Amino acid sequence: MILRVSPPSWKWQKVVSNYKNTPSHSSMKLEQAIAKIKKQAENELSSVGLAKDIEVLKVKYLGKKGLVGDLMPLLKTATPEERPVFGKLINDLKLFLTSCFNNILNDLSLKERNVQLENEAIDVTLPGRRSSFGRKHVTLRLLEEATEILRGMGFTVQYGPEIESEYYNYDALNFPKDHPAKDMQDTFYITTDTLLRTHTSNTQVRVMETSRPPIRIIAPGVCFRNEDVSARSHVTFHQVEGLYIDKNVTFTDLIGTLKNFFKRLFCRDLKMRFRPSYFPFVEPGMEVDIHCIVCEGKGCSVCKQTGWLEVSGAGMVHPEVLRSGGVDPEEYTGYAWGFGIERLAMLQYGIKDIRQFFENRVGFLSQF
Ligand code: PHE
Repeated sequence: MILRVSPPSWKWQKVVSNYKNTPSHSSMKLEQAIAKIKKQAENELSSVGLAKDIEVLKVKYLGKKGLVGDLMPLLKTATPEERPVFGKLINDLKLFLTSCFNNILNDLSLKERNVQLENEAIDVTLPGRRSSFGRKHVTLRLLEEATEILRGMGFTVQYGPEIESEYYNYDALNFPKDHPAKDMQDTFYITTDTLLRTHTSNTQVRVMETSRPPIRIIAPGVCFRNEDVSARSHVTFHQVEGLYIDKNVTFTDLIGTLKNFFKRLFCRDLKMRFRPSYFPFVEPGMEVDIHCIVCEGKGCSVCKQTGWLEVSGAGMVHPEVLRSGGVDPEEYTGYAWGFGIERLAMLQYGIKDIRQFFENRVGFLSQF
């Protein structure tokens, strides 16, 4: 290391030339000792590379029991005349060393800081790491889309419980006591008369009990069935129930509403098919099929090669159900439907396996 220190306070030559008389023996010793310390310090400083080593040297030379302090007893042996001269000499040495230490310390600290900055430097030109954002599940998105469309058509949203009594899920909906759907094969029972709802139709009689016609509600939510899991059915799925009760509600109103809804959801005119079907809580009842838009009716795995996909059950509310809800069937009529959201999503996005909705693979979910 190169010392670039030339302290202004060092007046060695000048002080020495101030002797008027020949110096005493002890002052010679002192003079030599001062010169030795100065030389030694310069040597040591020239090989120091770290700021923390300077601190060590500082203590060694200028500390309480340092080398400079050790000169003080020698001063006592000088003549009274020499004493102030050497006192000043020692003081100058102190100032010289202090300034040397400080200068080098500053120098080294700066260098160390620069090295540290260089090591910790961030290359702002490097491409950033992409952070991935969460998004709504495709089922929820479609559920919300369907809800928005139906709200725009005058329906309000009601929610029924997912853990339900056998009464609202079955009995109030005109299911005969020994209907096969009630069987353990289809229903997850919690107790003998409590179960996980198998459809959103459980909301129908609950709504009738708490409001008077006209009733125009939808009830979106999750349902459960104790079925074998396959590409087309799952134990968990989502439905949107629709219920409209008023004077003079007709089957044509139901067809018109469904057609209008599906047209808005898929943003195109769709071919639909209505097949007579049986549900205990509607009369007449039907299944609604949509022409498969994945294969344009040619047949694919989404529509099981039939060209059609069943998306909803629907029908006119059975008079017994109206009675269960305290609505007079002589005065009012109503329609109801319940469509499966996953089925609609399969059609909308060409998804071939319903299980993908529940596996939650990021690769699948991030497509939507
Ligand atoms: N709840 C029926 C089902 O889950 C669908 C449906 C709802 C049918 C309303 C008719 C009327 O299959």
